[in-house]
Amino acid sequence: MNDKIVIVTGANSGIGREAAIRFAEEGYTVIMACRNLEKSKKVQQEIIELTKNNGVDLLKLDVSSFMSIEDFCSEFKEKYKKLDILIHNAGYFNHGEKNYQLSPDNIELSFATNAFCPFLMTKLLTDMLKKSEDARVLNACTTNIRHFFDPKRKIDFDNLQGEFMDSRPYNIYKMYGDSKMALLMLTFKMGDIFKKDGIQVNAVQIPAIKMSKETMEKFKSVWRIAAMVQNIHSSSPETMADTYFHICTSEEFKDITGKLINDKREIMQSSHYTRGLMQEVKQLFDKGVYPKYADNIENIERVWDLAVKLTKSMMKI
Ligand SMILES: NC(=O)c1ccc[n+]([C@@H]2O[C@H](COP(=O)([O-])OP(=O)(O)OC[C@H]3O[C@@H](n4cnc5c(N)ncnc54)[C@H](OP(=O)(O)O)[C@@H]3O)[C@@H](O)[C@H]2O)c1
Repeated sequence: MNDKIVIVTGANSGIGREAAIRFAEEGYTVIMACRNLEKSKKVQQEIIELTKNNGVDLLKLDVSSFMSIEDFCSEFKEKYKKLDILIHNAGYFNHGEKNYQLSPDNIELSFATNAFCPFLMTKLLTDMLKKSEDARVLNACTTNIRHFFDPKRKIDFDNLQGEFMDSRPYNIYKMYGDSKMALLMLTFKMGDIFKKDGIQVNAVQIPAIKMSKETMEKFKSVWRIAAMVQNIHSSSPETMADTYFHICTSEEFKDITGKLINDKREIMQSSHYTRGLMQEVKQLFDKGVYPKYADNIENIERVWDLAVKLTKSMMKI
């Protein structure tokens, strides 16, 4: 056993499950933060048996709800003295969803789950992270943000709290990509702000990864078939879990913060390509760059201010 403590959200399936296994194999105390305790208890037992690590704990967390985040953080603080690694792995992406969904706090569900709730959780756990000698936070981002290479693409800030939920067309793919873009922008600013506290905050850009049987079972049949086809060309969740582990534990990333890292474990840069068809095509194939939209200071401040405003009431606890 080592004395390090890691929280992995959504650790009951896919990449999160593999990450929990990877850390447990290395002797970490692993907190699986999951919403369905009945389902996750079985996974917890499997991981304990597989890794012979009894320090695999399971705590209830619905990442889409501020109240649940608050309860989780209180429970964690009662049980543990510090936090070394926080992995925001859980994500909302319901293939084929046609309807705008609201979270319990009346925020569009992708934005609540993928951006604002992880923001709140990181903030509420800052005191615990500060007690670690090498605190690292990792946010699960996606290659879907590459759609922002289209200069017309933008986040529809005016429709994140149900304002036009009944009158505008809803596109889950856009909302998912937008919410992960917001998460990336929050990562950049958190990286800056938490530097003084010795907390590293980075994001990892995840490409298509094989979806688990449990995940595919949530889809309607046509999407299940599409997922099966996508799985043929996708990397394994174990490979991605290894990347999570590397970013969160290696010397290589010890002093890196406020960055987006790709699945080749390279630190990505803002796109340097200029306008023109050839340049635009080139940047699409350059795995080392991300769209400029992500580090536009006005965009970052807008997302940040909204995150602060929405979570303000929860910060007083
Ligand atoms: N797979 C890919 O191709 C891919 C590509 C790019 C990015 N990503 C990102 O990688 C991360 C992991 O994806 P995955 O492929 O491993 O997906 P997955 O197997 O579907 O796992 C997602 C996990 O998130 C949990 N989750 C979702 N909403 C939650 C909530 N409100 N509260 C608590 N847990 C919640 C799920 O729990 P339940 O079992 O209870 O639903 C599940 O454990 C996600 O952030 C995803 O966006 C994945």
